Amino acid sequence: MPVTTPVVDPKDAVAKKVIVVGGSSGIGRGVARAVLQRGGRVAIVGRSREKLDAAVADLGAGSDRLEAHVADVTQEAEVERLFEAVGPFGHLVTTVADVTYQPVRELDVTAVRRTLDSKLLSSLLLAKYAVRRMEEGGSLTLTSGIAAHRPAARGAVVAAVNGALEALARALAIELAPIRVNAVSPGWVDTPIWERVAGAAKQERLDAMAQRLPVGRVGRPDDIAQAVCFLMENGFTTGSVLHVDGGHRLV
Ligand SMILES: NC(=O)c1ccc[n+]([C@@H]2O[C@H](COP(=O)([O-])OP(=O)(O)OC[C@H]3O[C@@H](n4cnc5c(N)ncnc54)[C@H](OP(=O)(O)O)[C@@H]3O)[C@@H](O)[C@H]2O)c1
Repeated sequence: MPVTTPVVDPKDAVAKKVIVVGGSSGIGRGVARAVLQRGGRVAIVGRSREKLDAAVADLGAGSDRLEAHVADVTQEAEVERLFEAVGPFGHLVTTVADVTYQPVRELDVTAVRRTLDSKLLSSLLLAKYAVRRMEEGGSLTLTSGIAAHRPAARGAVVAAVNGALEALARALAIELAPIRVNAVSPGWVDTPIWERVAGAAKQERLDAMAQRLPVGRVGRPDDIAQAVCFLMENGFTTGSVLHVDGGHRLV
C-alpha cells in the first residue's frame, strides 16, 4: 500500500487555525498565546463565557485571528455543535480538566466520573468529531500529567486518567493515521487549577516543589505551550508523550 505524506509542510502548522479546548485558562491560554504570537489563528473553547471573555481580553480583544466558543466537551451534542461552529481547522489541542483529589477509602463516584469525563471521555469525543473537519497534515494533542508517573496520596483517579490518556494517544496515533496524535505531560505548573486543588496553600505547595525540582522552579504555561507547538509542528512525531516537568520524574 503506498504511503501518503501530508502535503502541508508541518512547519506551517501554526499558520492554520488551532482549536485550543481549555484555552480560557492556564496552560491552554498559554498555548493560544503562543499560536497567536506565531501568526496563527486560534479558537479557544471552555464552558464559562466569563472566563472566555477574560481570556480574549488578555490575548488580544479585537484580533480577527482569535475566536471563542462556549461548549462543555463532556457532552457529545455540544462537541458536534462546536465543530460545526468552528469549521475547518488544522490542529486541535485539549487541556481540559475538571479533576478532584480524594482518598480512595472515601471515594465519591460522582467526582470520579467528573474527572474521567473531563479528561478521558472529552478527548475521545473531540477525536471523534475532529477527524471529520481536520485539514490534511493536522494533529491532535492531548494533555496527561505528572500524576501518572509520580503519584501522590489522594491522586489515584488523576494518576489513572493521565496514564489512560497516554495510552489513548498511542492508540489514536495508529487508528487515525496519518493524523498525528501526541500527549504532553506537564509537571507542576502555576495556573488557576492550583487554587481549586490547594486553596490558600497554593503558593506554599508550589514553592516547596520548586525547591525539590532540578530546574529550581515550577512551570509556567509558556513552558508547556512551547512543547505543544513542537508537537503540532514536527511532522515526524506521533504516538509520543512529551514530558515537560522540570525533572519531576527524577526526584
Ligand atoms: N497545572 C498543573 O500543575 C498541571 C500539572 C499536570 C497536568 N496538568 C494538566 O494540564 C491541563 C491544563 O491544566 P491547567 O492547570 O491549565 O487547568 P485550568 O487552568 O483549570 O484550565 C482548565 C481549562 O479547561 C476548561 N474546561 C474544564 N472542563 C471543561 C469542559 N467540560 N468543557 C470545556 N472546557 C472545560 C476550563 O474552562 P471552564 O471551567 O470555563 O470550562 C479551563 O479553560 C489539565 O489537563 C491538567 O490536568 C496540569
